Amino acid sequence: MKKNTDDTREGKDMINEFKTGLKIDQIVLLRLQKVGNSSNGGVFARGLIEDNSGCIPFICFEAGIVEKLRAFDAPKAVRVAGNVDINKFAGDMSLQLIIQKLSEVKAGEDISHLLPQGNFDKAEYEERFKQQISSINDKGLRALVEEVFSGNVYQQFLINPAGMRLHHAYVGGLLHHSVCVADLACALADKIGGMDKDLVLAGALLHDVGKLKEISPDMGFPYTTGGRLLGHITITVMMVSDAAAKLESVDDKKLQQLLHIILSHHGEQEKGSPVACATKEGFVVHYADEIDAIMNQFDSDAGEGTWEFNKMLQRYLYL
Ligand SMILES: [Fe+2]
Ligand SMILES: [Fe+2]
Repeated sequence: MKKNTDDTREGKDMINEFKTGLKIDQIVLLRLQKVGNSSNGGVFARGLIEDNSGCIPFICFEAGIVEKLRAFDAPKAVRVAGNVDINKFAGDMSLQLIIQKLSEVKAGEDISHLLPQGNFDKAEYEERFKQQISSINDKGLRALVEEVFSGNVYQQFLINPAGMRLHHAYVGGLLHHSVCVADLACALADKIGGMDKDLVLAGALLHDVGKLKEISPDMGFPYTTGGRLLGHITITVMMVSDAAAKLESVDDKKLQQLLHIILSHHGEQEKGSPVACATKEGFVVHYADEIDAIMNQFDSDAGEGTWEFNKMLQRYLYL
C-alpha cells in the first residue's frame, strides 16, 4: 500500500516528516499502550500516534489528558497538540510527541490522511470511469448507469473502499476495483465475442456499487448496520431497480439481464450470490471481478521475492 507522502494540506505535517522542535496541532490515530505513575509523583500515558505516512511514540504528563486516555480501549482518531522531541529513553535519537492538549475530532473534520491510500492515481481512474460510462452505446443502459452514479452516490463512490480488509480496502478502492473489472470484462468480451458488451460494461461498473452503503468510509472501514442486514448484492439491486423505475428508459429484458449480472457476480450461491451465473455476460463479469480481487492481493509493501500469508485466499503468496 502506498504511503501518502505528498500531503501538503495546510496545518498538517505528515508523521514521517516530523522533526525535532516541531509544534503540531492535528488529527492523528492514537493507540494507548500504558498509563502509569511517574517517579515524581505525577501520572503519565504513553503509546503511539499514527497517520498513513508513519507512526511515532507519544508521551503525556498532563493529568487531565491522562485521565481521558484511561478510557481509550481501542485506537481512536483524536486531535492532539504538542511538541516533537527526541525520545531520550530510546537511545537512538528517534522522535516522540509530547502531548499537551487533546480533543475530540469534530463531525465533518478531514481524517483522510489517517486512512489507507491505494497505489493508484485517483484522478486518472475517475477519468477512465467517465470514459467507460460514455462508451456504453445502449442509451437506456447508459442513462441508468448515469442515474445510479449521480449526486451523493458519485461523491461517495470516489472515496469508498471496496472492502473492509480483504481487497481494495483503501480510499477510492471501489472506484479502482470497478474500473479494473470493467476493463478486464470488456477485454474478455472482445476476445470471446458473441455477447452484449453494453450489458457487460454496465454490469461491471455497477456490480459492487451497493458497497458504498455496506461499508463505511470512516476509520477502520466498518460495516454499516444496513450493510450487515442486507449485503452489497441486495443493496446494489435495490439501487439499480430504483434508478430504473425512475427513468423507465431501460428495456425490461435488458434490465433483467443486468440484474442477473449483479446477482450472480460472486459466481455461486455458496459464495453469496442468490443465483449462479447463467449468461455469458454474467460469467465474464464474475471472472473479471474475481481475478481483479486476487491480483489486488499482490499489491503489498512486503519486498519482492518474499512469502506473505494472505487472509482472503487463505494461503501464502509469493510476491
Ligand atoms: Fe461483490
Ligand atoms: Fe467486486
